[in-house]
Amino acid sequence: LTQPSVTIIGGTGDQGLGLALRFAVAGREVRIGSRVEQRALEAAEQVKQRVRGAAVSGLENAAATQRAGDGIVILSVPFEHTVSTLKTLREALQPGAILVSMGVPLASAIGDVASRMLTPAQGSVAELCASLVPDGVEVVSAFQNVAAHRLAELDAPVECDVIVSGAPKARKPVMALCDDIPGLRAIDGGPLYNARYVESLTALLIGINIRYKLRHGAGLRLTYI
Ligand SMILES: NC(=O)c1ccc[n+]([C@@H]2O[C@H](COP(=O)([O-])OP(=O)(O)OC[C@H]3O[C@@H](n4cnc5c(N)ncnc54)[C@H](OP(=O)(O)O)[C@@H]3O)[C@@H](O)[C@H]2O)c1
Repeated sequence: LTQPSVTIIGGTGDQGLGLALRFAVAGREVRIGSRVEQRALEAAEQVKQRVRGAAVSGLENAAATQRAGDGIVILSVPFEHTVSTLKTLREALQPGAILVSMGVPLASAIGDVASRMLTPAQGSVAELCASLVPDGVEVVSAFQNVAAHRLAELDAPVECDVIVSGAPKARKPVMALCDDIPGLRAIDGGPLYNARYVESLTALLIGINIRYKLRHGAGLRLTYI
């Protein structure tokens, strides 16, 4: 069975590019999306430079989403651009696609500190996404607690549990995606409603990074599972 491809909207940023590198290492087909095609092509080139034989391409966001078909599309743009970005992708999202919400509603979006949270009216960024996708597209929440710096260090595992929430059928392929990256462990996070708890953990982790001076970011591990 072929594995679903991964398309990363905003894959030119730290988190998206880090995931692209890791999925490329694992041999997944990866599409990097950007608002500007040229930037996507440059990011894809960077991945090819670091990962020999990477199956990676770069496209404008909507074109990348359309090409994703019923694959996995990860939304990797800052929280405050979630709504505007998803509105531009509505037509391009294909039935059967899984949209992964990785966004965190950090208070830095309104000029406050990144160690505090805002609360979207829907309860979480993931549920905000679910309110915007067309019928036939499932939203799954994942990867909010993984640090971009750790993803970029390809020689080291990424020691982190990834709590994956969403409808059971859509949750499964996203949990399987975690197995692509050494050190990551998928934890069944139940329904999408639980995304609010996972998103808020990132604000907590950012505060911990500041207090412990962890430039590359702390990871999350649940024990006795
Ligand atoms: N960084 C981390 O360690 C980390 C950890 C956990 C979760 N996350 C989450 O992952 C997501 C991406 O984080 P990041 O650090 O990679 O963010 P980022 O580098 O600030 O931005 C990612 C990409 O978003 C696109 N973008 C910027 N402004 C935009 C706009 N006005 N409209 C649409 N797209 C825009 C840009 O791509 P183009 O200019 O190429 O379009 C940019 O490269 C966020 O939701 C964040 O909460 C990040």
